[in-house]
Amino acid sequence: ELVVSMEDTGIKIQPTMYGIFFEDINFAADGGLYAEMIKNRSFEFTLPKTGWVEPNSDRHSYNNESGFLSVIKYSDEGTNHNFARVVVKNDEGYVLINEGFRGMGVKEGAQYDFSVDAAKRSGDIQKIKLQVIDSLGNVLGETVVSPDSDSWKTYESTFKVSKTEMRARVKITFEGEGEIDLDMISLFPQDTWKGRKKGLRKDLVQLLDDMNPGFLRFPGGCIVEGRTLARRYQWKKTVGDIEDREILVNRWNTEFAHRPTPDYYQSFGLGFFEYFQLSEDMGAEPLPILGCGIACQFNTGELVPMDELDPYVQDALDLIEFANGDTDTPWGQVRADMGHPEPFNMKYIGIGNEQWGPAYIERYKVFQEAIKSKYPEIIIVSGSGPFPEGDYFEYGWEQLKQMNAEIVDEHYYKPPEWFRENADRYDSYDRNGPKVFAGEYAAQTVAIASPDNKNNWESALSEAAFMTGLERNAEVVHLTSYAPLMAHADGWQWTPDMIWFNNLESFGTPNYQVQKMYSTNPGTDLLRITENGDKIIGKDGLYATAVKDVNTNELIIKVVNTSGQNQNLSIQVEGGSITTNVSVLTMGMDDLEAENSFEDPLKISPNGGSATMERNILGVTIPAQAFSIYKVKI
Ligand code: AHR
Repeated sequence: ELVVSMEDTGIKIQPTMYGIFFEDINFAADGGLYAEMIKNRSFEFTLPKTGWVEPNSDRHSYNNESGFLSVIKYSDEGTNHNFARVVVKNDEGYVLINEGFRGMGVKEGAQYDFSVDAAKRSGDIQKIKLQVIDSLGNVLGETVVSPDSDSWKTYESTFKVSKTEMRARVKITFEGEGEIDLDMISLFPQDTWKGRKKGLRKDLVQLLDDMNPGFLRFPGGCIVEGRTLARRYQWKKTVGDIEDREILVNRWNTEFAHRPTPDYYQSFGLGFFEYFQLSEDMGAEPLPILGCGIACQFNTGELVPMDELDPYVQDALDLIEFANGDTDTPWGQVRADMGHPEPFNMKYIGIGNEQWGPAYIERYKVFQEAIKSKYPEIIIVSGSGPFPEGDYFEYGWEQLKQMNAEIVDEHYYKPPEWFRENADRYDSYDRNGPKVFAGEYAAQTVAIASPDNKNNWESALSEAAFMTGLERNAEVVHLTSYAPLMAHADGWQWTPDMIWFNNLESFGTPNYQVQKMYSTNPGTDLLRITENGDKIIGKDGLYATAVKDVNTNELIIKVVNTSGQNQNLSIQVEGGSITTNVSVLTMGMDDLEAENSFEDPLKISPNGGSATMERNILGVTIPAQAFSIYKVKI
């Protein structure tokens, strides 16, 4: 018999309890959330012709008897260094093809926006034609713009596509002969999230928004740090006009991934302004993480000398001004110029992703002092490294405690059984110390980041069990998020991932469904749920937590059964008056190996039902290997 006490524990569930960790890994931004379909639209990649291929091949060669393309460097100064100069000698034959991000997804009947910056140089090229083609070269949609100036000018046109295709390409041809310069060749679907021009992919944001996330952490992950300091993420280069955002080789650019991505760059079309805007759209607290002068420790681990740390610290201070400052401050003005004069009301900032040891603590101290003396109200999230145990972990926590750190980020990528066995992890954490941000976690079915890891039901069920422990310890645990968030089925570096997508479709894994069950039923106040006076942490495979929601007047009980047997539960509610109608949400599966897929995206997803509470006792059967939520009006 489980007993829920309605007595006030005084412990609040923070509105930030269940959130989202976004990192541009696995094509999550360019090629994913950011809906641009042209790869290397401004010819800025290290190999400047990447993405631009010959018809019917993947070869990067554009010069033939019909014409040629050269990439010209404007200058080393500034941010937009290159453009393409196209010489058309024979307008019948000269063709440019863009391959997109493993192709381009287009939909029958949908509208697309083409835009290009062009300047005529000599001769007379009268038209630039853009066609969307399938693998056989069939035209699925087309449009034309007519360049009429020898100065740089933006040309735009909209057209409809007649057939759905997942791996379409773009073909560009010319009418007339001569020389023309091109830059920012761009193609977007019109149907983006909130209909914003050149915006975000709607289905992907919808999956995120459906989670009702308490926060959005961005932009990573290791990309914050960069493989080298020179290649770290610098937020100032990601705001302002998109053509002026300097692109960067993604830290996850690699030949060696299971689905190699040697063409992985960050265009920053999804930059810090857009992340703040997305947070606002979803009602999530923005939680930016900034580099602290340490490059990715899995690579060079390069450190900035202490006497050169200032620009890094200044970036943090300026970011707070960008997010919250008045429009008469320099960075507040940048935000206003981008269309958001109101502040974003940022409350949190993270300093350093997953760093540890004395090098981190030494640098973190400088940030803490600078931020707190100028913005005492901002809550700083600090790191504890990639290992949720061991000497460095203990050292970091000890130091951070002494410095009165407010929130410490912990990461754990562990086997499913670790999650089942560690649901009591936070029971012993100091209630008076820093709070915890469980910022990156996911059950690894084979080994950390192994390409063979699966997003199967065992992993999700184990996380569900573990999460009862996060919630039961809401006094200490203030923010939590699964990681990584997203992966393109044809270009990824890391598994498991919460959401999988291709150029047309997306689905939430069972792990996504678990997260969503928690995040859409977070409650506001923790209650005590026990069995014979003890917490319910894995005995007979049962795990449980209970909360009430003072806004909806509901009691919400979450129970996980990891055992192979159905279990009859008798849940008694003490000390409150409860109505009789209980709504039940259950997600379960006999097969622990089962997964969701593009073909069967909701195979593992919650089913609704009902039950009856009689004289404050709920008698229900929780199926084997299942996660159930019972909700009843108080
Ligand atoms: O989530 C994938 C990576 O795991 C993150 O970039 C990093 O923070 C962690 O090591």
